Amino acid sequence: MSAKKHQRQSFLDWLDERAGIKPFMNEMLYHRVPRIVNPLDFLGLATLFVFINQVVTGMFLAMFYEASSQTAYQSIQYIMTKVPLGWVVRDLHYWGANAMVVLVAAHMLRGFYVGAYKKPREITWITGVVLLFITILFAFTGYLLPWDQQSYWATMVGTWMPFYAPFVGIYIAYLARGGTYISGLTLTRFYSIHMLVLPALLLIFLGIHFAMVLKNQMLVVEEAEKKPKGTKGLVTFYPYTVFQMTMLIVVVAMTLLILALSSHAPLLAPADPLNKAHYNPVPLWFFFSIYQLLKYIPAVLDPLGIIGLPTVAVIVLLALPFFDKNPRHEPRHRPWAMSIAGVTVAAVVALTYIGAMNQGISQPGGGGGASQVATIAKPSFSADIEPIFQAHCAVCHSGSNASAGLDLTSYASIQKLGIAKAPYQQSILWQKLTGKMQPQMPLGGPYLPKTTIQTIANWITEGAPNN
Ligand code: HEC
Repeated sequence: MSAKKHQRQSFLDWLDERAGIKPFMNEMLYHRVPRIVNPLDFLGLATLFVFINQVVTGMFLAMFYEASSQTAYQSIQYIMTKVPLGWVVRDLHYWGANAMVVLVAAHMLRGFYVGAYKKPREITWITGVVLLFITILFAFTGYLLPWDQQSYWATMVGTWMPFYAPFVGIYIAYLARGGTYISGLTLTRFYSIHMLVLPALLLIFLGIHFAMVLKNQMLVVEEAEKKPKGTKGLVTFYPYTVFQMTMLIVVVAMTLLILALSSHAPLLAPADPLNKAHYNPVPLWFFFSIYQLLKYIPAVLDPLGIIGLPTVAVIVLLALPFFDKNPRHEPRHRPWAMSIAGVTVAAVVALTYIGAMNQGISQPGGGGGASQVATIAKPSFSADIEPIFQAHCAVCHSGSNASAGLDLTSYASIQKLGIAKAPYQQSILWQKLTGKMQPQMPLGGPYLPKTTIQTIANWITEGAPNN
């Protein structure tokens, strides 16, 4: 035995005597597993790797980033221009964030396709769904941190969504924003959630997720072991599977690096809450599908689209293992599950694509983010006008302690206030909606679509009747 080998041996013995690692290492490295041939079965590992990338790059960013409305933007500029390799680190973090959303979703679709959510893997699935939402929250909170125009207004749109939830919506939205507007308070709050709250939650759920994968092993592994090939298809975990995993990580790392080197994370002009010229409320890309859908449905149904659909989606995903009791895993034996999922995925992808195409041409004040309805020539108060106020204004302007003492929920109150006087150009209502009179309404939210504003103008022109 050479001296070197002997030395290594004695170190392992030394460690084994104290930590008892040998049985564990033998079990880990040399247990026999079936060959995994489909790269899609490694998506979970790819996600984990990108997460580690986020942790490491995030730690470095945090050394230079200063989360206040006065300093956030400059500190990002500093990272991009002055800190050695700072821009690569930021770009890796940016692309990693996007990659993580895609990979988690793909990992989940793969799990669905092979039926990995079924007994006994329900807990793995449920924790996975929770991890998907944690990932989305990570991306959402991280988006605000550069504090440029894009992040500011995208967060304005995003935090607008909870307003549509009944009863608690306004509290959630104000809690998220730390007030009526996006401010420095929102920034520090998002940073703390991004840096402390979400990582803690993620580690908890990831821990359970992993424990369950180890306990029940991967479905593909279990299936392969059942095959009659016997032990012929088996390999030892080390080096065979470890090699596969390493290859995959190299591919993911290279992809991230190429993305980071070829395309910078955006940094537009500094956030400027008063700069209407740059008011182009583009939501984050994974909200495109929801916003595109809103353009097809009437405004009254907006709360259903913004709150209802996502809530149903979460419930369906969480409950999936419990109502899909079909014990078969193979896709061809699950025609219903496959068709419903196929249609849903196709719809989401199509809406995201159309939404992305439309975001590029959405103009300031063009109603990006709100629903698009045709102009109504002779509007009725109860059918056309009231629903608009209900959906966009009632969160602040209803009841006795309404904002600015303005109750927009009843016709009588609107008449008493005299904000709907013809000609419409002179009405406070129209001037507020178009931003001619500041602050623009809905306060802190996107402009109403032009067609909706025109409908209100028509209603005023008609004498603002109570029909
Ligand atoms: C996020 C809360 C919020 C929402 C949503 C909101 N408002 Fe307001 N609104 C306010 C506040 C606060 C004021 C007082 C602001 C000021 O004048 O400085 C106000 C003022 C107004 C005024 C001016 C009152 C006056 O006499 O000057 C009008 C008109 C108005 N809102 C209409 C609307 C309409 C119409 C909508 C829906 C399309 C709407 N608001 C949505 C909070 C809101």
